[in-house]
Amino acid sequence: MTQLSVKKIEEAVYKKYQNSKRLNHILGVARLAKELATKFNIDSEKAYVAGLLHDYIKYEPVSQMLEIINDQEIIDKFKNAPQIYHAYASSVVAKNEFMIEDEEILNAIKYHVYGRLNMTLLEKILVVSDFSEDSREYARCKEVRKILDNGDFHLALRLSIEYTIEAVLAKGDQPMDEQYKILEQLRNKYWLMRKNIITNYRRFYGTIRTYKRCFR
Ligand SMILES: [Fe+2]
Ligand SMILES: [Fe+2]
Repeated sequence: MTQLSVKKIEEAVYKKYQNSKRLNHILGVARLAKELATKFNIDSEKAYVAGLLHDYIKYEPVSQMLEIINDQEIIDKFKNAPQIYHAYASSVVAKNEFMIEDEEILNAIKYHVYGRLNMTLLEKILVVSDFSEDSREYARCKEVRKILDNGDFHLALRLSIEYTIEAVLAKGDQPMDEQYKILEQLRNKYWLMRKNIITNYRRFYGTIRTYKRCFR
């Protein structure tokens, strides 16, 4: 995954963000991502490392972020949404400074703000963890965390995307078109999943009823 140990990455993050509120957030994301990865049976160390590095570049001036990103297509794409640059810059630093070679980790860092179409499970975990980790104090974040604690990961993910759009609109900014498409994709998947659960439930009780009728 990387030539550096997780311990060294932790040390770098602690050093960079000591005495900053951001440290609590970063550790919260890393812990929650690790917990969710364990729950869903995927590599929890990858999730932890992605959480540790997801906001590594956060307070640097935009000009510095653009220098790090060094990709005109990305720079142009987010010129009206510069708050996204930190995710791309953090992913570049994870690769170049922390020698992370694993594309899944790099993508989870890159897409942590609002996800992307056809997200991997690790990417989804980062989005939800970033939105709802314990130190987040907004009511929307707490609401999503409660849903997550009740075991509905897919609803928590959908709402993380939805409320991120809502926050952009509340600031008077325009969300990216892509954000609406992602939300639409998740809504369709969510309802399809619910429909399948209901169908299976009906099928199950239908079978039980048939079974009882046979032995009446
Ligand atoms: Fe971030
Ligand atoms: Fe974050």
